[in-house]
Amino acid sequence: MMTEPANILAVESSCDETACAVVADGRAVLSDVVASQIDIHARYGGVVPEIASRAHIEAVNTVIAQAVNDSGLAASDISAVAVTNEPGLIGSLLVGLMAAKTLAWTYDVPLIGVNHIYAHAYAAALDAEPIEYPAAALICSGGHTAVYLCRAATQLQLLGSTIDDAAGEAYDKVAAILNLGYPGGPVIDRVGPDGNAQAVNFPRSLLEGRSLDFSFSGLKTAVLYHVNGVPGARENSVPAGGRPLPKRGIDNFSKAEIADIAASFQAAVVDVLRIKLQRAAELTGAKTLILGGGVSANTALRAAVADLAGKLGCTVRMPAMRYCLDNAAMIAGLAWHYLRQGLVADLDLDAHATVRR
Ligand code: KG4
Ligand code: ZN
Repeated sequence: MMTEPANILAVESSCDETACAVVADGRAVLSDVVASQIDIHARYGGVVPEIASRAHIEAVNTVIAQAVNDSGLAASDISAVAVTNEPGLIGSLLVGLMAAKTLAWTYDVPLIGVNHIYAHAYAAALDAEPIEYPAAALICSGGHTAVYLCRAATQLQLLGSTIDDAAGEAYDKVAAILNLGYPGGPVIDRVGPDGNAQAVNFPRSLLEGRSLDFSFSGLKTAVLYHVNGVPGARENSVPAGGRPLPKRGIDNFSKAEIADIAASFQAAVVDVLRIKLQRAAELTGAKTLILGGGVSANTALRAAVADLAGKLGCTVRMPAMRYCLDNAAMIAGLAWHYLRQGLVADLDLDAHATVRR
């Protein structure tokens, strides 16, 4: 049986952030270091896996050293080493996994493998009160969008997920169509309030019946066609009833019109996410709603989920802003629950690019 307090050091490298953190007893963040690669990938409009792996290799040792130093602890105070081992870019995951295995071996402490998405569903507990379970969790990031029933921090049941684009991916692609830069989420979050969310009635894909799956590629295509026209459509060349031809190409839209499109797109995404979370809450009867993942930093989504919780009489748990995006504190926090249950890994722990459960 483990002796408390337990200080867990975690490494996270599943996508384009090299991160390391030390968290005490699952919730008290002692240090939290994130080296972002956003500037490196911005020129390509998205994360380039090979470049990400190389950048992780360059950053990982410095990031770990800083996290240990910032924590104020000695190496001998670390009780376990945790690492994101699924899902993510395989080359990126392997860099963090090798670093974590090396640390666990040198510190002579247990190694704990953590699922990145499950950790996003735990981020709201960091520097905060424990989460009350059962809970319905909506996790939306650049790579994943899913709803879960969480019976405990370590017991998640997938209820539905995206069948095509993730919500954050849709934000990033729509921002690229609108020429607003990368990553798209924060910029649309900033521009959206300047626009009219009712200006364009973009589709809300809810799929059939009470489905808890998501689809955002139709919405993304609707924005593309709104800006560039429907390929081969008659309206491209024949004005209807003497009206001028519709605008084509983002350069022909004013700043105000672009803000309207951004706001209308965001309204469609938030509507869908809110409805799915409501369905999940109703299906499970959970009285706690959890939000997590990069898109949970979104102002409009946070407001919509807070409003939903009020209407359903639920408690809502959202991560502090700095724990919405990828970080290692959420990995260390969740790992504490695995450690308590004796769920530790061997040094032959594998990385997995995809997981569906
Ligand atoms: O969780 P995360 O850091 O990485 C993944 O696990 O994918 O999420 C990154 C995603 C990006 O797609 C980014 O555009 C989106 O989160 N994002 C936002 C906001 N901040 C980041 N989306 C909407 N509004 C935001 N404020
Ligand atoms: Zn993430």
